[in-house]
Amino acid sequence: MVDNDVVSVRGKVIVVTGAFGLIGTEVCRAYLRNQAKVVVAGHNAGIVSGIAKGLEAEFDCENFLVCDLDVTSHSSIDRCLGMVVSRFGRVDVLVNNAAIDAKFDREGIGRNDSSRFEDYPIELVRKSLEVNLIGAVQMTQAVCKQMLRQDGGNIINVASSYSLVSPNQQLYDMGDGKVNYKPVDYVVSKSFMPNFTRYLATLYARDNIRCNAIAPHGVYAGHGEMFLENFSRLSPIGRMCEKNELDGPFLFLASEASSYMTGSVLVVDGGWTAW
Ligand SMILES: NC(=O)c1ccc[n+]([C@@H]2O[C@H](COP(=O)([O-])OP(=O)(O)OC[C@H]3O[C@@H](n4cnc5c(N)ncnc54)[C@H](O)[C@@H]3O)[C@@H](O)[C@H]2O)c1
Repeated sequence: MVDNDVVSVRGKVIVVTGAFGLIGTEVCRAYLRNQAKVVVAGHNAGIVSGIAKGLEAEFDCENFLVCDLDVTSHSSIDRCLGMVVSRFGRVDVLVNNAAIDAKFDREGIGRNDSSRFEDYPIELVRKSLEVNLIGAVQMTQAVCKQMLRQDGGNIINVASSYSLVSPNQQLYDMGDGKVNYKPVDYVVSKSFMPNFTRYLATLYARDNIRCNAIAPHGVYAGHGEMFLENFSRLSPIGRMCEKNELDGPFLFLASEASSYMTGSVLVVDGGWTAW
């Protein structure tokens, strides 16, 4: 039996990057429901006050701070962390969630560059590396300085099944004769996450800073029929992940229930990488 107080994030100051997106929104709300102090750090200054209003309707505004954060910009990182420290005094948990990720739901599928690998624009690769890799590294550098000044901390890196295995491109075949690929920029820019996680875990283990990763796969967001059909055929569990099925893993890694875990990758993929 699990003691509920062990899987607790009550009072912890948790900074979530990319917090206005699909998973970020879900995870922030899960932490808020569980009485954490949450920094909802998303990259869109224009919707900050709207997001704050939406959260105020449901949660005590003492418990959250909504801010604009561009992880590729030092000044944006410094401004955001300055606000966090003056408001909450510390950072207990950083969730490195921000990323550029080509989407294959009904809305996103038409926006992706469908070039084959040989012709895939190198500019897009650079852009993804800038956000997904360099952005995560420089955000973590800034937060580690704060964690070293306090009595430690906890970092959760959001990796992907594609940090571990190659995409099976059959998933993206919509049967309409058009070519769809999960692009190389996402795969190369997320592949570093497991080893970055181990790097930080071992470097800071004696400074009371833990670091683990979560590797989700295929979170449902209004995907089309053909995609769902492909997914259920290729996935051991036979369906996509509902976003609230990530709440437990994110709560677990942020809580003391995972106190002896560092350097791990928690795979939440319905068995996708298991065969
Ligand atoms: N959705 C999935 O099925 C899935 C599966 C595996 C892994 N992931 C990972 O989960 C994380 C969240 O993905 P999501 O599905 O919520 O994607 P999303 O696109 O909905 O959210 C990502 C957010 O990152 C933000 N972002 C982009 N550039 C930024 C920058 N320079 N600075 C700060 N923020 C920036 C975007 O504004 C966006 O809101 C990503 O790291 C992704 O790789 C998602």
